[in-house]
Amino acid sequence: MEPILEIIDRQEWLDKAGEAIQPAVLNAFKAGGKTGKQVKNLLHGKWLGHPVHPMITDIPLGAWTTAAVLDAMELCGSKQYKPGADAAVTIGLAGAAGSAITGITDWTGTTAIERKTGLLHAMLNIGATTLYLTSFFLRKKSRSRTTAIGLSMLGYAITAASAYLGGTLVYNKQVGVNHTAIPEGYPEDFVAVLAESKLKEGKMKRVRAKQVDILLARKNNVIYAIAHTCSHMGGPLSEGELLNDCSVRCPWHQSVFSLEDGSVIDGPATEPQPKFDVRVKDGQIEVKLKSGWV
Ligand code: FES
Repeated sequence: MEPILEIIDRQEWLDKAGEAIQPAVLNAFKAGGKTGKQVKNLLHGKWLGHPVHPMITDIPLGAWTTAAVLDAMELCGSKQYKPGADAAVTIGLAGAAGSAITGITDWTGTTAIERKTGLLHAMLNIGATTLYLTSFFLRKKSRSRTTAIGLSMLGYAITAASAYLGGTLVYNKQVGVNHTAIPEGYPEDFVAVLAESKLKEGKMKRVRAKQVDILLARKNNVIYAIAHTCSHMGGPLSEGELLNDCSVRCPWHQSVFSLEDGSVIDGPATEPQPKFDVRVKDGQIEVKLKSGWV
């Protein structure tokens, strides 16, 4: 695994391409104003509570696996599987379109090696989809049937390589994984974390409660506490921006979370931040995990 990521990491051209394409995609969403923002959050999967992209990729992967099996049976002489294979190729193409649009949206929330790997993953998918699209048209002509099946098989091999990179992004680089999944050690009873006098109005602070970091923020003289580690990719929320509407913007990829309930206001994050109850006792700010988070 590691050598492949090392090879990808050495590809400076992927960095340059990413630096050019990523802002262009983000600007396209920004140009859409409020609707663009809603569409972006819809494609990220904010409504679902986790990314949509991995779910949709099952469509082309499943359909094209079916097509490969039926094509192989056709090549072995079972001609009755021909319509099924053609239908599977078509379904896969429709799923590939959905996978591409959700994948590009999620890719806008990546940097460094994740962005390079994501771009390579996308390029392989574009190559595979082009082969399947060509195969789709050639399948209509019986003379070019064997060529069409050959192109599909090549597309399938590329899709498998691309799926491997997609898995690397999730399992090795933790892209799309909730970085605030409840760990052992979130305080379930009130614990003191900071003297109240040390948290000024309009300021945020990173504090430790048991084994976890918590973000404290004071806005309009109300003290809020949510998990400090951004659910998207683990960014440090205390280094972000405290916004006027009682929310915080992550410094890494600009996700915005409500301080009132930890919910995602703007992606790329799709999972909410764990929220803590806050009280002040004997001059100390005390927090405990809000009930319902475990
Ligand atoms: S780490 Fe990506 S938005 Fe916070």
